[in-house]
Amino acid sequence: MGLTIVKEQTAVKPEAMGKKNVVYRTNELNLWYGEHHALKNIHLDIYENEVTAIIGPSGCGKSTYIKTLNRMIELVPNVRTSGEIMYRGRNIFDKSYRVEELRTQVGMVFQKPNPFPKSIYDNVAYGPRIHGIRDKKTLDEIVEKSLRGAALWDEVKDRLHDHANGLSGGQQQRLCIARCLAIEPDVILMDEPTSALDPISTLKVEELIEELKERYSIIIVTHNMQQAARISDKTAFFLNGEVVEYADTNQLFSTPADKRTEDYITGRFG
Ligand SMILES: Nc1ncnc2c1ncn2[C@@H]1O[C@H](COP(=O)(O)OP(=O)(O)OP(=O)(O)O)[C@@H](O)[C@H]1O
Ligand SMILES: [Mg+2]
Repeated sequence: MGLTIVKEQTAVKPEAMGKKNVVYRTNELNLWYGEHHALKNIHLDIYENEVTAIIGPSGCGKSTYIKTLNRMIELVPNVRTSGEIMYRGRNIFDKSYRVEELRTQVGMVFQKPNPFPKSIYDNVAYGPRIHGIRDKKTLDEIVEKSLRGAALWDEVKDRLHDHANGLSGGQQQRLCIARCLAIEPDVILMDEPTSALDPISTLKVEELIEELKERYSIIIVTHNMQQAARISDKTAFFLNGEVVEYADTNQLFSTPADKRTEDYITGRFG
């Protein structure tokens, strides 16, 4: 028993002392789609080895925000931003910051599983091959490690060269997570990764997220408040392009500081 107490103390201390590393620091971020002001003066620190949930009603800017974190937003015409997003101390909007460099550090998993029209193996090997890895043994190892990491290996190890379309939706989503792990990212962005999945697959992906946070920092957009409460350490509540409240998940759900957060989490709107 004594040992448990000691363990708990050492586990809690660094955070209580504010020693967790900040991965992303967003400062006065604004974003416009043409005339539409979609993100308004966002300030948000995202911490290492935590799961950060982003919640809020449809259209409040959740996807816009996470697509900004890996600069995917640049693909949309007429987007303009101001402010800064520091990733590991460097502003990702700096002209000298190559987007390819950022994307090797920051992987993304989307709402709908989107495997490439290739075999299971080739899906996972895709990123490493782009990075110039050709050696079959090395690729085999990466594929196995990534599929194990995504809790999919046992289900697919005998059919690695089958087409990915033959997997169930939940398996396809875990394949997309494996594809993301294969590039050994630092951060994983997930935009409603379980909204197209059945409850059992959802549970598998949630368990996986809990395991992955030991090695990665995870930012997840979800409409499912139980999910945010179950799996995240911190939660940011977005409304009309603003961050209304950002706090430890337990605190935000038990004693929200803002009336609008309370209304949202109790289901009074959104
Ligand atoms: N490509 C785009 N061009 C113009 N406006 C856009 C574009 N993408 C999003 N918007 C607008 O920006 C706002 C935020 O959209 P966003 O997709 O970030 O919302 P969201 O919080 O992810 O919503 P949902 O929960 O429905 O996915 C919305 O008003 C939306 O209409
Ligand atoms: Mg969205």
